[in-house]
Amino acid sequence: MKKVTIHTLRKMKQAGERITMLTAYDATYAKLLDGAGCDALLVGDSLGMVVQGQKSTLPVTLDQMVYHSAMVARGAQRAHLVGDMPFGTYHASADEAVKAAVRLVAEGGMEAVKLEGGAEFSEVISRIVRAGIPVMGHIGLTPQSVHKMGGYVVQGRSEEKAARLIADARALEAAGCYALVLEAIPANVAIEITRSISIPTIGIGAGAGCDGQVLVSYDLLGMNPDFAPKFVKRYANLAEVIGEAVTRYCDEVRAGEFPSLEHSFSMERSGEKQGPPSVPAPVVPLPLPTSAAAPGTGGSASRDSHEAGTGSEERPLKLYSSTEPRR
Ligand code: KIV
Repeated sequence: MKKVTIHTLRKMKQAGERITMLTAYDATYAKLLDGAGCDALLVGDSLGMVVQGQKSTLPVTLDQMVYHSAMVARGAQRAHLVGDMPFGTYHASADEAVKAAVRLVAEGGMEAVKLEGGAEFSEVISRIVRAGIPVMGHIGLTPQSVHKMGGYVVQGRSEEKAARLIADARALEAAGCYALVLEAIPANVAIEITRSISIPTIGIGAGAGCDGQVLVSYDLLGMNPDFAPKFVKRYANLAEVIGEAVTRYCDEVRAGEFPSLEHSFSMERSGEKQGPPSVPAPVVPLPLPTSAAAPGTGGSASRDSHEAGTGSEERPLKLYSSTEPRR
C-alpha cells in the first residue's frame, strides 16, 4: 500500500491517469472508501447538509470540521486526505486562515486543506502554503457563496465568465495550489482550464475533461432518494438496502425471532467462564444447543463461537464495529 500524496496526484495528471476523490465524514466510511481504492478523501463541509441536515454549508464550524477530519484520518490508510476550510475561517485575514488550516492538519490529521474562491484569495493561499500546508483550490460553483450567486447555479456559462474562471485557475496555481476543484461549470470550460494549468483539476458537474472526479459519497451511494441532480450517478441504492434491512429487523424483533439462540449468551458451564463481567447473563438460562461442537473448533453457530473457548480463558467480546486505529 503506497500512500497517495500531492506528488502522486501531480504524477497522475502527467501520466494521464484519472484521479478519484470522494467525500468522507467518519471513520467507517473512510475505511470503506479507502479500502475500495479511492485516491483522495475530502472531509467536505457538505457534511453540513448530508450529515447535519442543514440547508447549506454555511453553519459548519471549524471545531466540527476538525472533529470529522480526525475521524476520517483514523479510518483511512492510503488515500490523500483533504479537509475543507469552513465558511468564515479564511475571509477575515491570512493569519486567521493559517491558524484554521493548522488546526485541520494538527488536530484533524488532514494532509491538505481546500478553500473556495478565486484570485482574491491568492495571498491567503500563499500564506497557508508557506506554513507547510498544501492547498486545494475550488472555483466555479462555490457553495459558501450561495447568497452571492443567488442559489446553486452553474457558473461560467458566458464567454466573459468563462474567461474569469480560467484567469482564476491560473492565479490559484501561481499562488501555490497543488490541485483545483472545478464545480458545476460547462464541460468545455473545464477542459480549457485543465489544459491551461499544470496542477490537477478535479471536477464535480464539470464534465469528463478534468484530471479527476469528486462526488459526495452519500449521493453516489444513493443514501437520499429525493436527491438526484444531473451531475450525480447513483452506483448503489443504499437508502433501499438500509430501509429493507431495518424493516426486517423490526419485523423479526416484533415477531420474537430476533435475537435467536445464535445471538444470545448463556450461563457458565462448569469450568468455563463467561465473557466480560459487564455483559449481563440473560435472565432466563438458555438450553444448550443440541449440536454441541467442541469449544473453539468452529462447527455450528453455537454458544461456543461467542463465548469463552476453553475452560479458564476469557475471550473479550467485540462490542460495536470499530475501525482499527491508523498506525
Ligand atoms: O464540501 C464538499 O463536499 C465539496 C465537494 C462537493 C467538492 O466541496
